[in-house]
Amino acid sequence: MSYSFKVNKFEKGKAKRRGYVAWRSPSNIALIKYWGKHGRQLPKNPSLSFSLTEAHTDTSISYETREYESDECSLEFYFEGKPNEAFKLRLTGFLNSIIEFFPMLKYMDLHIESSNSFPHSSGIASSASSMSALALCLCSIEQELFESTPEDKFLKKASYIARLGSGSACRSVYGGFCIWGDEGSDQLYTDDYAVGFDDVHEVYQSLHDDILIVSAKEKSVSSSVGHQLMETNPYAQVRYENAEAQLLQLKEHLSCGDIMAFGKIVEEEALSLHALMMCSDPSFILMEPNSLKIIEEIRSFRTETGLPIFFTLDAGPNLHVIYPDNIMSEARTFIEERLIPLCEKGQHIYDFIGTGPVELSKVKTS
Ligand code: DP6
Repeated sequence: MSYSFKVNKFEKGKAKRRGYVAWRSPSNIALIKYWGKHGRQLPKNPSLSFSLTEAHTDTSISYETREYESDECSLEFYFEGKPNEAFKLRLTGFLNSIIEFFPMLKYMDLHIESSNSFPHSSGIASSASSMSALALCLCSIEQELFESTPEDKFLKKASYIARLGSGSACRSVYGGFCIWGDEGSDQLYTDDYAVGFDDVHEVYQSLHDDILIVSAKEKSVSSSVGHQLMETNPYAQVRYENAEAQLLQLKEHLSCGDIMAFGKIVEEEALSLHALMMCSDPSFILMEPNSLKIIEEIRSFRTETGLPIFFTLDAGPNLHVIYPDNIMSEARTFIEERLIPLCEKGQHIYDFIGTGPVELSKVKTS
C-alpha cells in the first residue's frame, strides 16, 4: 500500500502571511547502495546509510502569501550568496512538480537561499543534503500556516518529498542510521520514505567517515543516467536480490557489533556499485588510479594492524574511509601519512556520523 499524507488546501482570502524558515541538513553515505529506480523515484532495492555532520547544506526560505493563485511557483534563488539562474530553473521545475502535495505554493512568493559547507566543485554530491534541507523547509512552512503535526509524521513527509527531489535525499532527514526501501522483513520499511534504524551497537555510534577527494572534477555520468543504465544491465536482477540479502546481513552486524563482518559488506557494496557501472552499456569507469591506490593502502594497513578501517565509494572517484572512534589516533596518522598525499591537492574532509538536520530558524543565538 502506498503512503498518503494530509494535503493542506490553502484558503484564498486569508490575511497575508509572511515568514522565514531555515534548515541545515547533512549529506549521508550509503553502505547498502541505491542504484536503479522505477516509477516516480522508487528504488529497485532497499538501501541503508548514515548521516554525516560536516558535509551539509543550509537552506532558508522567506515566504509571503498572496491573494491570487499563480500556475507556477514564484521564486528567487540565491546560491552561496549570489543569484543563480540555472539552479533556479531546476528548482522551479521541482517545486512545480510537487504542487499537488503543497497547494500553498501557488499562493506565495519565495526567496530561497542555499549554501553548502563544502565547495561546489569538490566532487561531493550535494543533492542529498540540499533536497533534504529544501523538503524540511517546505514542511516547516506548512506547519506555520496550518496545524502542526507530530515529529514522526513531519519527518515522513519531509523524507517523502526529499525523495522526489533526489532518491538518496530521503535518507538525510534523519540522524544516525536509516533504511529506505521495502526490505521484505516486516512492514516497517517502505519505498516511499526512509525510516530511522536504531538497533545499532555502540561501536558504530561514533563512526568516522573521512572523505578523500581524489578528483574534484564533475562526474562524467550523473546518478540519474547511472540509475537509467541499470534498466539494461545484464546483472541488474541479481544485484537487486543481492542488495536485499546484504542489507539483512548488515542489519545483523550493526546490531551485534561484528565490525569486521560489517566492513566486509560495506566494501563489497562499494565495489559492486562500480562493477555495475563498468559493465553497463555504455560502460563507465569512475575510479581514478589513486582511488585504487587508496583502496590497496587501506587493505594493506588493515592486514598489517588488524584494525577495523574500511572504505566505501559513491558514484565517483572519491573515497570515504570508515572507522570507529576508538582507533581514531592510529587511523588519522595512517590517513595523513599514506592517503592524503594521494588526494587532489591534499583535499579531504574529516567527517563523522551525525545527529541529523537542525532547524536553524529555531536555534537560539546567544
Ligand atoms: C551511488 O540519489 O543521487 O550515491 O535519485 O537520481 O537523484 P537520484 O539519484 P541519487 O543516487 C545516489 C546513488 C549513490 C548511492 C546511494 O546514495 O544510495
